[in-house]
Amino acid sequence: MLTKGQISSFERDGIVKLPAFIEPAMLGKLNAAFDWSIANPGPFVTGAATGENVHVVDNANPDAYQMYSELVIENGFGHVAAELWNSDYVGFFAEEIYLKKGKSMPSYWHQDTVYSPWGGEHWANFWIPLVPMTAEQAIRIVRGSHKGIMYDGITFNPSDPTEPLWGDAANFPRLPDITAEYEADSTSWDILGFDVLPGDMVILHPHAIHSGGKSDANLKVRRNLVLRFFGDKSHYSDHLPDAPGMYDNDPIPATGGGFLADGDPYRPASMVQVNVGGHDTKIL
Ligand SMILES: [Fe+2]
Repeated sequence: MLTKGQISSFERDGIVKLPAFIEPAMLGKLNAAFDWSIANPGPFVTGAATGENVHVVDNANPDAYQMYSELVIENGFGHVAAELWNSDYVGFFAEEIYLKKGKSMPSYWHQDTVYSPWGGEHWANFWIPLVPMTAEQAIRIVRGSHKGIMYDGITFNPSDPTEPLWGDAANFPRLPDITAEYEADSTSWDILGFDVLPGDMVILHPHAIHSGGKSDANLKVRRNLVLRFFGDKSHYSDHLPDAPGMYDNDPIPATGGGFLADGDPYRPASMVQVNVGGHDTKIL
């Protein structure tokens, strides 16, 4: 289903685009699921979908898990991840939803792995555009940074886009101001992204330093969703500091009982294996 070139691009760069990968009927279902998520925000949502200028991010709504895991299985996404990693096991983590309208801010450069207890090679974000976007409006990464160091997270503060998330509570280096450095010198960072159309899918490693685009006069409505997966070489990693009030990282019940501990295979009891059933994804 994937070409050797696509697999090696993801392994080398940390990102790959699969053109026209999602069939129109499935794209319709993903749009309907997106609309459901906007109408039924979960406990971790930020922003509201009303008014002229909108910037909504909803992440891992427990009430949406079954709906998205069924769509994932129906579309064979678990098999795609299995092939991408040569992994026997693929678990579905959760969805993330982005709706930006009118004037909104970009999602500043960051790594997902400094917000979550995720370790190992086998992690992937399936980033799915629901409207046409240029590379800058879509998602871009620093090429190869999925194999690089872990910087501190950021607070998504428009007046200080690299404001450290953990600061003194941890020992992560502060993220450089990639936007400013890249604007001053386009050779300073090796940035990689793709123009996309609905039906395309971009897969990126969540440890890659990445930035999502904004809505403005050139893109009045920006809609995309992200589906996250983990495989054989994924583990619970205890690298996050215990800093209450920032991002709570509650103990995660494990499939085999008890709670996940540092180095354990990442197998939360609440998450399901999704490389099961018919292999019905088609390349158009
Ligand atoms: Fe992210």
